[in-house]
Amino acid sequence: MKWKKDLYQIPPYHPGKKMPGSIKLSSNENPLGPSPKALEAMRGALDSVHIYPPVVSSQLCETVADWRGCAADEIIFGNGSDEVFTMVGATLLGPGRNAVGSENTFSQYEFAARMFGAEYRAAPTRNYQYDLQAMLSLIDSSTSVVFLCSPNNPTGMIIPEPELREFLAAVPKDILVIIDQAYREYAESEKYPETLDLLKEHPNLLITGTFSKIFGLAALRIGYGIARPEVIHMLLRVKSPFNNSSLAQSAAIAAVRDNEFITRSIEFNRNSREYSSKLFSEAGLEFFPSESNFLCVRSPSSDAAGDVRRLQEHGITVRDLHSFGMKEYMRITFSEPARMKQIADILKG
Ligand SMILES: Cc1ncc(COP(=O)(O)O)c(C=O)c1O
Repeated sequence: MKWKKDLYQIPPYHPGKKMPGSIKLSSNENPLGPSPKALEAMRGALDSVHIYPPVVSSQLCETVADWRGCAADEIIFGNGSDEVFTMVGATLLGPGRNAVGSENTFSQYEFAARMFGAEYRAAPTRNYQYDLQAMLSLIDSSTSVVFLCSPNNPTGMIIPEPELREFLAAVPKDILVIIDQAYREYAESEKYPETLDLLKEHPNLLITGTFSKIFGLAALRIGYGIARPEVIHMLLRVKSPFNNSSLAQSAAIAAVRDNEFITRSIEFNRNSREYSSKLFSEAGLEFFPSESNFLCVRSPSSDAAGDVRRLQEHGITVRDLHSFGMKEYMRITFSEPARMKQIADILKG
C-alpha cells in the first residue's frame, strides 16, 4: 500500500478510559447527564431519522448565534469541535506549511496539522502554562494557523485577557488564530475574556465551542466555530454535508434554551470545584487553579500511573496525563463532594 508518510507521525487518539462498572471521571463529561430538554427534543425527532438532516440548519445557526451573541452567518457546526479543527486543517494546512501550538495541551490540534501533511510546532510551556512569547517566536512565513486552548485541557488554566490581547496584536493578520473554548462556560475568572469582543478587532480569529461538556451531549458529536462570515464561508467548502445528525441538531437547539440545566450544571461545578480545591489543598495535594470542570493534580508519589491504578481499584477512573507530556499529573473531572473526598483520601494514602 502507498500510505502517506505523514500518517506514521500521527499517534492514535487516547480517549479517557471507560471501565465497566466504574465511575468515569476521565473525559470531563457532565456528571448531571444530558440536558432533559435536549432528550425530549431528540425523542420528538426520532420519527424523521429516515430523512437526511439539514446541511446548514438556519434554525440551529440562529438559535446558537443568539445564545452566543453573534450573527447566524458567523457560525459553523462540526461533528464535535474536533471536526472544526480538521476543517481548519483542510483549508489552511498542508505540506510546506506549519501550525503553531503549545506543549501540554489538547492533542487534536497536532492531529489536524499532521493529517494534512503540515508541520506542528509545539512551544514549551512555563510551569505548564502557555508561554505566548515562545509561541510567537515559532511563527514564521510558513505558519498559517495558531492554536490556543483556554481554559486549557489538561491544566484547567486560562489565558488572561491582557496577555491574549497582546498576543493577538502580535500575530500577523493572515494567520488564523483558533481559541478553543470547550470549557468556557465553567470559567469564572474576571480575567477570562469575552472572545466575541476580540473577534470585532481581529478578523483572523476562530472561536470554537462544544455541546459535549456543559450541555452533556458528548455522544451526539456536535460542536461549533464562530468567525467572520468570510472565514466561515471557506470552512463551509470542506464541511462534509451531513456531519450533524438531525438528533444532534434538535438536541443542540433545545439544550441552549435549557437555562435551568445550564445554571444547574454551572452551580454543581462551582460547588464541587470550591469544595475539592479546599479539600485537596488541605490534604497537601498540589494542583493547578481550575477554571474548568476538572482538576489537574500532581501525584503525591510522582507516579500518576500508579495513583490512577489505585483509584481504579476503588472503581474510579481518572485520566493519567502521560500522553499530554505530564507524566506526574492526573486529571479528575469534578464529581459530587463525597466522591471527591474519597479520591483525596485515596491519594493521600
Ligand atoms: C479542549 C478541548 N477541545 C475540544 C474537545 C473536543 O470536543 P468535541 O466533543 O466537541 O469534539 C475537547 C474534548 O475533550 C477538549 O478537551
